[in-house]
Amino acid sequence: MKSDDIRARFLDYFQRRDHRLVMSSSLIPDDPTLLVTNAGMVQFKPYFLGSEKPEFTRATTCQKCVRTTDIEKVGHTARHLTFFEMLGNFSFGDYYKREAIPWGWEFLTVDMGLDRERLYCSVFTEDDEAYDIWKDVVGVPEERLVRLGAEDNFWDMGTTGPCGPCSEILYDQGEEYGCGDPGCRVGCDCDRYLELWNLVFMQYHRDEKGELHPLPSKNIDTGLGLERLASVLQGAPNNFETDTMAEVLHAASHLSGVDYGSGEESDISLKIVADHSRAVTFMVADGVLPSNEDRGYILRRLVRRAVRHGRLLGITDVFLPRMVETVIEIMGDAYPELKQNSAFIDAIIHSEEERFSQTLRSGLVYLEEAVSDLKSRGGKVIPGDVVFHLHDTLGFPLELTRELARERGLELEEEGFAVLMEGQRERARAARIEEGYAPQVLEIYSEILDNYGESRFTGYETVSDKAAVLAIVNGGHAVASAAPGEEVEVFLDRTPFYGEMGGQVGDTGTISSPAGVAEVIETFHPARGLISHRCRIAHGEIKISETVEASVDAERRNAIRRNHTATHIVHWALRQVLGDHAKQAGSLVDPGRLRFDFTHFQPLSRDELARVEELSNRKVIEDLPVRAYVTTYDYAISINAVALFGEKYEDYVRVVEVDEISRELCGGTHVGRTGEIGLLVIAGESGIGANMRRIEAFTGMGAYAYFHRRQEMLNDMAEKLKAEVNRLPDRIDRVLQRVKELESAMKKRGREEAASLVDGGIDWKESEAAGGVKILTAAVDGLAAQDLRELAERTLTGRAAGVVGIATIHGGKANMVVALSKELTGAGLDAVELMRKAGRLLGGGGGGRPDMAVGGGSDTSRMDEALAVMAEEVKRALEGHA
Ligand code: SER
Repeated sequence: MKSDDIRARFLDYFQRRDHRLVMSSSLIPDDPTLLVTNAGMVQFKPYFLGSEKPEFTRATTCQKCVRTTDIEKVGHTARHLTFFEMLGNFSFGDYYKREAIPWGWEFLTVDMGLDRERLYCSVFTEDDEAYDIWKDVVGVPEERLVRLGAEDNFWDMGTTGPCGPCSEILYDQGEEYGCGDPGCRVGCDCDRYLELWNLVFMQYHRDEKGELHPLPSKNIDTGLGLERLASVLQGAPNNFETDTMAEVLHAASHLSGVDYGSGEESDISLKIVADHSRAVTFMVADGVLPSNEDRGYILRRLVRRAVRHGRLLGITDVFLPRMVETVIEIMGDAYPELKQNSAFIDAIIHSEEERFSQTLRSGLVYLEEAVSDLKSRGGKVIPGDVVFHLHDTLGFPLELTRELARERGLELEEEGFAVLMEGQRERARAARIEEGYAPQVLEIYSEILDNYGESRFTGYETVSDKAAVLAIVNGGHAVASAAPGEEVEVFLDRTPFYGEMGGQVGDTGTISSPAGVAEVIETFHPARGLISHRCRIAHGEIKISETVEASVDAERRNAIRRNHTATHIVHWALRQVLGDHAKQAGSLVDPGRLRFDFTHFQPLSRDELARVEELSNRKVIEDLPVRAYVTTYDYAISINAVALFGEKYEDYVRVVEVDEISRELCGGTHVGRTGEIGLLVIAGESGIGANMRRIEAFTGMGAYAYFHRRQEMLNDMAEKLKAEVNRLPDRIDRVLQRVKELESAMKKRGREEAASLVDGGIDWKESEAAGGVKILTAAVDGLAAQDLRELAERTLTGRAAGVVGIATIHGGKANMVVALSKELTGAGLDAVELMRKAGRLLGGGGGGRPDMAVGGGSDTSRMDEALAVMAEEVKRALEGHA
C-alpha cells in the first residue's frame, strides 16, 4: 500500500466517524512557546486548554512535523526522522478512551490488515481504565499488554501545556530487528518493538511550577507515524525504504554515485541526506529562513549536516537544491506549498549550502591539522582553544566539531571552551560599557524608575503637554538644576516626546520652564519604560519639581509619521508583489526617509519595484483610515497581526491597522489617514546580506523634493543639450550617434597623419647593418602611443626598412616602438628584447611580439640614446650572425 493511500484511508476512516478534516498547519507554529510544529495537536492547543471554542469537536489531520531532539539517531536507527508526517484524530471534550482505543485497533487490524498477533499495547502504570478497555473491549491478551511509567506513557508537549497519560500501539518487527539483549521487550530502545501510534488522553494542564491541573474537559490526541506504518505495510526494513522516502534516498545515491547498501557508513550518510532534505524543503516552504537563532538555526543545522554528509559521500558540488527538487517532485501533490515556493526554496538552500561549503573548507583544514597534531602527541582531547577558534573565528558550529571529534574517537575539552566563551561575553559587556552604558549610569536609571515609575507617553494624542520635571541627570549624577550651555538628561512625569524605539527615531523639540528653555536633541529609552530627553539648556535654568511645557517639533514629527505609516504600506505592497516570504527584518524611520529591510532572495527587478511603488501610492490616494488600539497579545495574534519574529512582546500590545490591508504590532506614531502621506517614491533597492534586501523611500515633502531634484536635473540637461525635456531621449540618442561617428573619424585621421609623417616631416636617422639592412630611427613630437605602431608599420614597408625605432613624448612619458621586418625575426632578431634594453635606459621596460614591441619609461631626456642603443644592438647581432 502506497503512502498516499495510507494517508487517504486514515483520513477517510475518521471522516466517516464524523471528524472534520483539517489541513496540516504550518511548520511555524502559532505558539510562542514552540519553535517548530512537532505534533498534530499543536494547532489545536487552544481547544484543549479551553481558551478557544472550536466549531467542531472531532478532527482528523495529516500534520507535517519536525523534531530534532533525536537528530543524532537519524540514519543510525530504522525509525528516527527529523521530518515526518503524523496522522491524527482528535476529540475536544467529545469522545474519550472507550472510542479512541477500539478505533485505533480496528484501523490497524481491519483497514490496514496488520497481524494482530504482532501488535502490543502499552498503558500508563496507573491507567487501569485503558488497560481494561484493551483487555476486555478489544480483547488483547494480557501477555501483549504492558504497563509502563511516565517516561514512556505520559505525554506532554514540553515543560508546560496540555498533557496526559497515553497508550501506545507497537508492532513487533521480529527478533532480527532486536538488540539481542535477553531483557529486550516493549519499551526497549532498539528497533524491534516499533511504536506506531500514540493515543494521548489529554486531561491535564501543567503550569510553570510543574503542577498538574485538570483541563475543562477530557480530550483525545493521537499520533500515528505515516512513515513507520508504511514501512511495516510495505515490508520495508526501515523508514528510508518506504515508497516515498526510497525515491529521495535514491536521488542522494544517484548524485553521489554511492550505491545504497554498499557500506554501513555511506548508508548512514545517504539516510541523513534524504531525511534532512525533506525537513529543509518543508521548513523553507513554510517561511523559515536560515539564521543563528531559534528555528532559523534548526534549519541551518539541518542544512549543514546534510551538506557535510554529502561531502562524506564524495559530492563536491552544490547538491542540496537537487535533493530539494526531488522532494518537491515526490511530495508536491500532497503539499502544494512546496510547488508554489519552489524557486524560493531553491534559492535559499542554494545560497546556504554555498556559504556553508566555504566555512566547511576552512574549518576542516584547521581541524584536521589540530587533530593530527594531537594524535602525534597521543592526545585524546581537542583543546578548548582549538574548539573556540573554530567556533569564534571560522564560524564552525560547536555540535559539528563535537560530531567530527566523536567520529575520530576524540573528545572536546568543553570546560576550556566554556571559559573562553565566557571571556568573550565579558569582553562584549566591557565594550558596551565603554560605549557609554557605565553601570552607575544604569543604576541611576533604575533609581528613577523605582522612585517615579514608568514615564507616561502622551504623544499619540498630542505634541505638546504640561509636565513636571522629576529628575535631571548630568554626567551620570542626579542634579537639582541645569544652567545655560549644559547638556543634561531630563525626566518628566508625562511627555509627548517619542523615545527612539522599533526603528522610529526619537522626537526633538523644546522643554520650557518659567525661567528657561532646553532644546531636546534626542529622546530615547535608557531602560524599559523610561523616557529620557537629552537636552542642551539654551537659556535660563531648568529645575527639578517645576512645571514645564514639553513641545515636540511638530513638523518633524509629521514627517516621521508619514514615513512610518508608509513602511507598513510598503511591507504590504512587497508581499503582494513578491509573496508572503517578504517579511520585515528591520526598519528605520526618520523625518528624512524610511528604510525597510526584508527577506527576499534576489534583487528586485525594475518592474517589481515599479509595482510596489504603484500599489503603495494607490493606497495613499485612496486615503484609507489608520487605526491604532491596545489589546492582548493573544488576541492580536489570533487576528493575524504581524509581529516581528524574535521580538519579545508584553501581554498587552498596540495594534496599528491601515484599513483592511495591514495589521501590525507597533508602538510607533502614525498618520490618521494614508492621504497625509501625500506621495511615496522608492529611491533605492540593495542587498544587505544573504536573502536580505533593503528599500529606501521618501514620502510627503521628501518625495516632492526628490522628484523636484530630478526635474531640475532634466531641465539642466535639456538646456545643455538644447532640446525640450520630452525630446531628450531622442536628442541623447543622436548625440551618442554623433560621438561614435566622431570617434571613428578621429581614428581615421590619426592613421592618415601617421601616413603623411612617413613621407615627410620626420627627421629619420638612417644607418645600415650587415647584409644591407636599413635601420631607421626617429624621435617625433607628441604622437599618441597607439599611433606609434601604425607609423612604424607604414615606415617598414613604405621606406623598405628592416628595422624601425620611433620614440615620442606622450603624457609626460617616453613612449617607444621597435618594429622588425618578417625576414629579420627569422634571422634571430627579437623586437621584444631590443625594446626591453632600450626601455631600461628610459627607466622602464617593454613587451610585445617578436616583430613589434612597445615600451617606454619616465626618463624623456634619453630617447635619442635609447634609439641609438637599439640600432647598435641590431648591428652587433646581425654582424655576429653574418
Ligand atoms: N501528541 C502526541 C505525540 O506527538 C500524539 O499525537 O506523540
